[in-house]
Amino acid sequence: SAELVPQAPADPLFGLMAAYRADTDPKKVDLGIGAYRDNNAKPWVLPVVKLADEILRKDPAVNHEYLPIAGLVDFTSASQKLILGASSPAISEKRVTSLQTISGTGAVHLGALFLSKFYSPAIAAAKTIYVSNPTWANHNQIFGNVSLPVKNYPYFNKETKGLDFDGMIDSISSAPEGSIILLHACAHNPTGVDPTQEQWKKIAAVMKQRCQFPFFDCAYQGFASGSLAQDGWAINYFVEQGFELMIAQSYAKNFGLYGERAGCFHFVAAPSSSAVDEATRVGSQLAILQRSEISNPPAYGARIASLVLNDPKLFAQWEEDLRTMSGRIIEMRKALRSKLEELKTPGTWNHITDQIGMFSFTGLSEKQVGQLREKFHIYMTKNGRISMAGLNTGNVEYFAKAVDSVVRE
Ligand code: LMR
Repeated sequence: SAELVPQAPADPLFGLMAAYRADTDPKKVDLGIGAYRDNNAKPWVLPVVKLADEILRKDPAVNHEYLPIAGLVDFTSASQKLILGASSPAISEKRVTSLQTISGTGAVHLGALFLSKFYSPAIAAAKTIYVSNPTWANHNQIFGNVSLPVKNYPYFNKETKGLDFDGMIDSISSAPEGSIILLHACAHNPTGVDPTQEQWKKIAAVMKQRCQFPFFDCAYQGFASGSLAQDGWAINYFVEQGFELMIAQSYAKNFGLYGERAGCFHFVAAPSSSAVDEATRVGSQLAILQRSEISNPPAYGARIASLVLNDPKLFAQWEEDLRTMSGRIIEMRKALRSKLEELKTPGTWNHITDQIGMFSFTGLSEKQVGQLREKFHIYMTKNGRISMAGLNTGNVEYFAKAVDSVVRE
């Protein structure tokens, strides 16, 4: 009976969001959840999304019928081109199977479920997914829920506040042959630290040698370098190297479609004479998993994204909107770093501008994070991650002074 069900803790991130909302102090600052905010700390509906929405509303062909199990075909095929590049041989050789999912989380889950059912490496212990330490907290839960064992590889160097590349390579090299390695395609969450292209090449070489299986999570395309193609570079490199791999793609952040749950899952078969057949068979199994779990995906967000992705003019407007978001975040990185340096806050602060994407891993301790919340009504995750978009010209100085005060305690 339900008497036996233990109480679970609240989700740390959504719990933080609720605590922020309940705080009545006018100075409160929300640096918690990774969602873009404009300079007035308000959610931002992208102008291109407004445009697409108006077009959809006027379209007499739009109705509320079910989408196919694998989702809107115009959306999934445009998503392939966005993530793999329009001229990718994997697409022209029909080696890619794609399903529309409940945003990036749904894509990670679908991949996880598929792997738990079908992944059968020669070495049994290789049926394990290695995730970066740290990683997005939900990764652990998603893989745990489908009983896929999770292990860590080192990722963040606390001294340099950059990548622990040697630790990462050592750990991947010693993971059993055939292990699954989860990689953040760009703008690593929570650290904001990405490998360089040279480092990615090394990672690919080691994984190739160890016959390991890459699973890319791509939630921030367009947020890291400011160029969509550049942010897809690592994935493209791995595809070029002939890997069989999976990709979870989210449109929550780059389209601001958070609550609409627009995302896509891709399986790419390695080039071989049986690749098309493999992709087809994998797709057929994914369709059964999808049908039993969600039946078919939600339509609205995918229609918006599809309209934009398939129309060159809207696409150009989208790139402009992405630059607005990533540009404001970069400005806030510069502002925060220079305020902390002006205040001569103990420590070094170059990592604030070196790190990229939506987050900065500040290096603040759990105790300092607690003090920021108690004394200054500033909300951020316990690991010291801040969502850069929560800062604006009105609160960056307040935040810097608060950090200065807790660091000096
Ligand atoms: C985050 O890490 O803040 C976002 O990815 C939101 C989420 O769903 O956890």
